[in-house]
Amino acid sequence: MINPARASSPYDLANLKVLVVDDQEDVRRGLKRLVGSLECDVAMSHSGEDALDLLSKEPFDLVFTDLKMGGMSGDELLHAITERWRDIVVVLITGHGTIDLAVECLRNGASHFITKPFDNNEILAFVERAGYSILARRVAKDQATNQRGRTIVAADETMRNVMALVDQVARRKVPVLIEGASGTGKELIAREIHNRSPVHAKPFLAINCIALPDSLLESELFGYKRGAFTGALKDTVGLFEQVDGGTILLDEVSSMSSLFQGKLLRVLQEKTIRPLGGNIEKPVDFRVIAASNRNLEDLVKSGEFREDLYYRLQVVKISLPSLKERRGCIPVLAGHFLKQTASEFFYDEHPCPEFSPATMEALLNHDWPGNVRELENTIQRALVIFTGDKILPSHLGLSDDSVLAESLFSPQLTSYEEGKQQAIETFQRQYVETVLQRADGNISHAAQMCGLTRAALQRIMRKLGLERSQVAP
Ligand SMILES: Nc1ncnc2c1ncn2[C@@H]1O[C@H](COP(=O)(O)OP(=O)(O)OP(=O)(O)O)[C@@H](O)[C@H]1O
Ligand SMILES: [Mg+2]
Repeated sequence: MINPARASSPYDLANLKVLVVDDQEDVRRGLKRLVGSLECDVAMSHSGEDALDLLSKEPFDLVFTDLKMGGMSGDELLHAITERWRDIVVVLITGHGTIDLAVECLRNGASHFITKPFDNNEILAFVERAGYSILARRVAKDQATNQRGRTIVAADETMRNVMALVDQVARRKVPVLIEGASGTGKELIAREIHNRSPVHAKPFLAINCIALPDSLLESELFGYKRGAFTGALKDTVGLFEQVDGGTILLDEVSSMSSLFQGKLLRVLQEKTIRPLGGNIEKPVDFRVIAASNRNLEDLVKSGEFREDLYYRLQVVKISLPSLKERRGCIPVLAGHFLKQTASEFFYDEHPCPEFSPATMEALLNHDWPGNVRELENTIQRALVIFTGDKILPSHLGLSDDSVLAESLFSPQLTSYEEGKQQAIETFQRQYVETVLQRADGNISHAAQMCGLTRAALQRIMRKLGLERSQVAP
C-alpha cells in the first residue's frame, strides 16, 4: 500500500475528512471501519438530509453516499453537494439494480461509484489516490494564500542581486532552477518570478515531488483517461494542462525517481503530454520552475540526477544564500516578521513590542540552520511568550529551544489544537523557569511574584516535569 506521507505531514491521510451516508447501519459502519483503517477522519450520516446538515456545519473532502435511501436519494444529495461545495469528491454506493443511474451520476459530478458487495482493495486504492490528490491541491491552495502579497526582504548585496535576476528572468519564459537550503525562500522567489511575469494572471501551480510516489506524481501532472487504472472512472486533467500557460513549480525536484526524470525530460523537450491510459499526445504550454535544497550538480556527478534534465531545468539558476551568509538582512527581516506577526496576533490592538539591543545582538549572532523560516518561527514564538513591551533574549529561546520552535510553527504541524497546546507548554516552561531563577529557586517567593498560589505553581511544575534544582542553583 502506498504511504508516502510522513507522520504529521499535510499529506497525511489523517487530514482527510470523509463522510459515509447510508441508511443501513451495517454498511455505514463497515465503510467507516475500512476507510478509517487508512487513518482518515470518518463521520457517518443515516440520511441525505442529515448529511446536508453536517456538511453545512463542517468541511468534508470526500463523501460516500448510497444511491437508494429513504427520503433524499443519493443522486439528489450529489446534486445538492455539487451546487454548494464544488470541491467535495462524491462516491456513490450502488447495488446491482442502480448501476445505470450511478453511471448517469458520473456525468453529473460524481467521481466514482462502488458496487455492493464491496471490493475492499478497490475502495482503499481509490481513497488513497483521491485523498493524496485532494491534499496536494489543498496544500498548494493554502500556500498560495499564505504567500500572496508577501513582501520579500532583500537588504544586502547578495539578495539585491538575486532580486535583480528575478526581475530579468521573470520576463523571459525560460526554465529556472532555484537552489537553496531549507527555509531560504525558494517557494517565495518562485512565486515572485510568476507574479512579475507576463503570465501573472494565469495559474501558479506547485507540486511537492517528495510527498508523492511516482504513480501519483504521474497522474497528478499528466492526468489520466477513464479506465487507466482501477478507480479511474472519469477522464481527469493533470496539472500540466490545468496550468494553461502559467507556471509550474516542481518543488524538491531531486527526489524524483530516475524513471520519472526521463518522463519529465520528454515533456520539456516535446511540449506535449500523453495522459495515463491515453493514446493521443496533447500540446501543453507552461513555464517550469524547479526548486531543490540539494545541490543538483553534485547529484548529477554522483549519478542520482539525469544530466540532460539538469541542463534543461537550469537554463537560469538562482542560488539563495543561507541566512548566515546574508546577516545584513537579519535586522530588516526580524522587524518585518515582528510587525507582521504582531498585527496577526494582536489585531493592531496592542502596540508592537520592540527588540532590546541584546535581543538584536542575539539575532545577529545566531547561526540560523533553519534560515529565514527559523527566524520567522523564532519571532512568532517570542511574541507568544513575551511579557512587557520589549522582546528580551530569553524570549527567543535560541540556545536550546529552537528545535521546539521549529516544530511548533513548521508547515507540517498537524492541528491547531496541537500547536496551541505546544505553545502553551512552551510559554509555561519559559515563564516558570524565568520566575524560579529570579526567585533563586524559592517556590513561595516565585509564586508570589507571578500571582499564583504556591500549590498552583507546584502543579504546573509537576505537569511540566520541572524540578526546582533544574532551574535554580
Ligand atoms: N527574503 C524574504 N523576505 C521575507 N520573507 C521571507 C524571505 N525568504 C523567506 N521568507 C519567508 O520564510 C518562509 C520560508 O520560505 P519558503 O517556504 O519560500 O522557503 P523554502 O526555501 O521553499 O523552504 P523549504 O525548502 O523548507 O520548502 C516563508 O514564510 C517565506 O515567506
Ligand atoms: Mg519550499
